[in-house]
Parts: sequence; structure tokens; C-alpha cells
Amino acid sequence: MNTFDPVAHDFESFRAFPAGVAGRIRDAILTHIEADNDALILDVGAGTGRVGEAFVARGDRYVGVDLSGEMLARFGEKIHSPETQFPRLAQADARALPFADQAFDVVLLVHVVSNIPGWRRLVDESKRVLNRDGTLMVGQVSRPVDGLDARMNAQLDIIAESLGMPPRRSKTQKHDARRELASAAQSHSQVTTATWEATRSPALFLERKPTGGRFAALAPELRDEALAQLAAWAETTLGSIDAPIVEEHAFLCDFYRF
Ligand SMILES: C[S@@+](CC[C@H](N)C(=O)[O-])C[C@H]1O[C@@H](n2cnc3c(N)ncnc32)[C@H](O)[C@@H]1O
Repeated sequence: MNTFDPVAHDFESFRAFPAGVAGRIRDAILTHIEADNDALILDVGAGTGRVGEAFVARGDRYVGVDLSGEMLARFGEKIHSPETQFPRLAQADARALPFADQAFDVVLLVHVVSNIPGWRRLVDESKRVLNRDGTLMVGQVSRPVDGLDARMNAQLDIIAESLGMPPRRSKTQKHDARRELASAAQSHSQVTTATWEATRSPALFLERKPTGGRFAALAPELRDEALAQLAAWAETTLGSIDAPIVEEHAFLCDFYRF
């Protein structure tokens, strides 16, 4: 079973974009890379279609792949044109994509580089299926570096280490992949494609964390202990764990051409 299968039903409960944001991201991506209406787009690790649904809604030539059948099933529930050629959703491993070389004009990697073990194969495969003039887009939500999520995650790292839990792979993996992409690319640019106000609270963080693929896959007793310690830390350090905090979040796109 894929680590995202058990959390698929809850994935968007805490991670859905505000209305209109996915559409703004889609428009900004296609405008930035000057894609025409025929551009063939591959979304690798498409998940529940948080971003992909905007391409689907606009009738783009969109293909989404994901290893998790459950994540794709949630995405499929949003699609009402199953008999048309596009969109296409397929269950596949990003490290062995079932597509010909140079088949796509755009490849999207949104919150997948740090979520797939073996980022080199992910990057190599993404480049292989991209045509010569194509663009690889690595996208992610950006939150304030001193914001609530950053503070809660930093403290969770400390607690996790003290409990002997495996370190988060995401930080180093993401940086290594980005460094290699930037050095291999003929051109690289970063664009903020959307910003919005997000309401956070320690209580929401504590509720959301177990719905994330990697954290959910840890032993339940370790997970519960880590969250209990984090809740105690938040009470002492941040005051009420229910108090809402409004932060500005943004969606950053890194565009690479090779
Ligand atoms: C954090 S989610 C991001 C989903 C989506 N891109 C988004 O931003 O909403 C990571 C996704 O990568 C998928 N994934 C993990 N390993 C994969 C693999 N080897 N091949 C394809 N997809 C994979 C997971 O199933 C999950 O849907």
C-alpha cells in the first residue's frame, strides 16, 4: 500500500487551496511559459488534483499520474468527462514513467520532490519525458520562515529526534534536487504565482499532521507521543493552542528549461 492511500480521504481537509487559487496558479504557469492551447501537460504525483483540477476545469490536455490509487480516486471524483481523451489519470511510479521520451511540453512536480524516495530517478524521468523546448515546473506552497507551521515543525523535529524517530527526508532531498536542477538547466526562474491569507493555529497543526503521508506511516504510539509532547510545548510557549493566527502564504513556481 502507498503511504498516501490511508490519508487520501483527509488530504484536502487541511490542505485545500482557497477558492480561485488553483486557477490562478494554472493561468500563471501557462502564461509564464507561453504555452499554447495544445500544450501537453504531465502532472507527476498529481494526488487529489489540488492543482491539477484547474487544468482539468479549463479543458487542458492534462495527464496526471500518481502511485496512490486512493489519491487518484479522490481526483477522479472531481472529473465529469470520463469518456473524453483528456484529462487522463493513471496510476504509475514517477521513477519509471510509462511514457515515451519527449512526450510532454510541460511537467509539473508539486510537493512531490520531498515526498518520493529516490529524487534522482524522479528528476531523470521527468526530464526524459519532456520535449526539447519543454519546461519542468517545481511548485510548492511557501509559508513565513518564522510562521506557526515552521515553529511547530522545528519543535516536532526536536521531539522526533529525542524519541528516536526517523528524520524528515524532505529538507535535504528538496535542496539537493533543486541544486542539481538549477545547475543542469539552461534557464531557471522563480515566480510567485498566487498569494492568500491562511488561518492557522497550533490545534489545527496537531490535527493536520497525522493526515500527512509520511507522518501517518510512523508507528502509532510514537506518533501519539510526539504529538502529545508538541501540544504541551505549544501550550507553554505559544499560549492558547486554539488562538487563530493569520499568515500570508504563497505558491512558488520554479521553472527549468534544459
Ligand atoms: C504531498 S502529495 C502532493 C500531491 C499534489 N501534487 C498536491 O500538491 O496536492 C505527494 C503525492 O506524491 C505521490 N507519490 C509518492 N510516491 C510516488 C511515486 N513513487 N510515484 C508517483 N507518485 C508518488 C503520493 O501518492 C501523493 O499523492
